[in-house]
Parts: sequence; C-alpha cells; structure tokens
Amino acid sequence: MPPIEEAQAINAQRIAELRVTLADLPLDHPQLTLEIGCGHGHYLAAYAEKNPAEHSIAIDIIKERLEKAARKTDRAGVTNVSWLRASAEHFFEALPSEVRFNGRIFILFPDPWPKRKHGKNRLIKPDFLHALATFTRTGTELCFRTDHDPYFAEALAVVSDHPEWNVTPDAEWPFEQRTVFEARADSHQSWIARRA
Ligand SMILES: C[S@@+](CC[C@H](N)C(=O)[O-])C[C@H]1O[C@@H](n2cnc3c(N)ncnc32)[C@H](O)[C@@H]1O
Repeated sequence: MPPIEEAQAINAQRIAELRVTLADLPLDHPQLTLEIGCGHGHYLAAYAEKNPAEHSIAIDIIKERLEKAARKTDRAGVTNVSWLRASAEHFFEALPSEVRFNGRIFILFPDPWPKRKHGKNRLIKPDFLHALATFTRTGTELCFRTDHDPYFAEALAVVSDHPEWNVTPDAEWPFEQRTVFEARADSHQSWIARRA
C-alpha cells in the first residue's frame, strides 16, 4: 500500500477504536470539562477532585503519562475523570456530534514548536478553534496557559480574531494547580476566551 494510503488507513482505524472507547464515557453528563494535552494529569486530577459535580475528560497522545495519571486518581478514589489516549484531531473526528462541553476547556503548556518551520504544528489555529467551538456551549471558558512568549502572542492573536470565541481579559483563572511543565518554567502567561 502507498505510504499516504497506509497512513490514512491507520488514522481511520484509530478513529474507529476511539469511537468505541468514547461510547463508554458519560458524554451526556450535564457538566463536561475537557483538558487537551494533559501530560501527567496533575492539573485535571486535582481539578476533578475539587469539582465533583463535573465530569472531566483528559486527552493526550502519550500512553505512559495517561497511565500514571489514571493510577493517581484510582488511588485517590477520584471517579469523575476519564483519561483518554487520543490526539485532539482524532478526538474531534470521533466525538459524537451531539456532545457539548460546558464545564471548562484547558490547554496548559501545549508543545510550543519553537522553530519557525514547525510553527504549523501548534494546536491553536483557526480550524482547531472552530472544531472546539462546535463541541462547546455558549459561555464556556477556554483557558490557555504557556511559558513560551511567542506562542502566547500568536495564540492570543488567533483567538482574538476568531468569530466563535471572545477573549475575556478580566476573567479570573478558575483553578490553580502546578503542572509538570509549569514547575519547569520560570514564568507563564494565560488567557481565557468564552464561546460566543
Ligand atoms: C509540553 S506537554 C504539557 C503537559 C501538561 N499540560 C503540563 O503542563 O505538564 C504537552 C502535552 O501535549 C501532548 N500533545 C501534543 N500534541 C497533542 C495533540 N495533538 N493532541 C493531544 N495531546 C497532545 C503531549 O503528549 C504532551 O503530553
């Protein structure tokens, strides 16, 4: 099989498997929160424990980090969180169309792709914000944090220009819990945008 077709077949298989996994999650929960790129899960584990009325879903592409996160919440008896191995792109492809996140959406210290030629790999792009908006109820907060100044500026410009999100400079950061990458950073900046 030619490489492009092979890659397409692998992606289709992953999305199909993800649909099966998603069918077991409480996606009709009245308060659904999402973290994209949760890493070792420190943030969402603490957030879920403090917000028992919400169900939190955390996605990441690295299996070992998710397994570590799941062990932590299992030990603590925190049951209102689901750890899912998925890229953001596959997640939105696989998600049933009726799902709406209406708790909060967190993107914390996403990969900054610091080299100019890799900038296209950054998560915050107009198409990504549109996919996210499609699954988000009006008023829901998208909370973004990074220690990488150029990515902060670029992401803020992209979200400020986007018709489906309104940046809210006065909004308070909803919950503090150091992540692994936050602990490694000298400083960070954040913005919050609400679904229009
Ligand atoms: C720099 S780490 C930050 C992890 C965590 N949020 C923290 O602050 O410690 C970025 C994480 O995003 C994950 N990631 C990268 N691209 C992703 C994608 N397309 N979809 C989901 N997760 C992704 C990586 O596997 C990694 O764990």
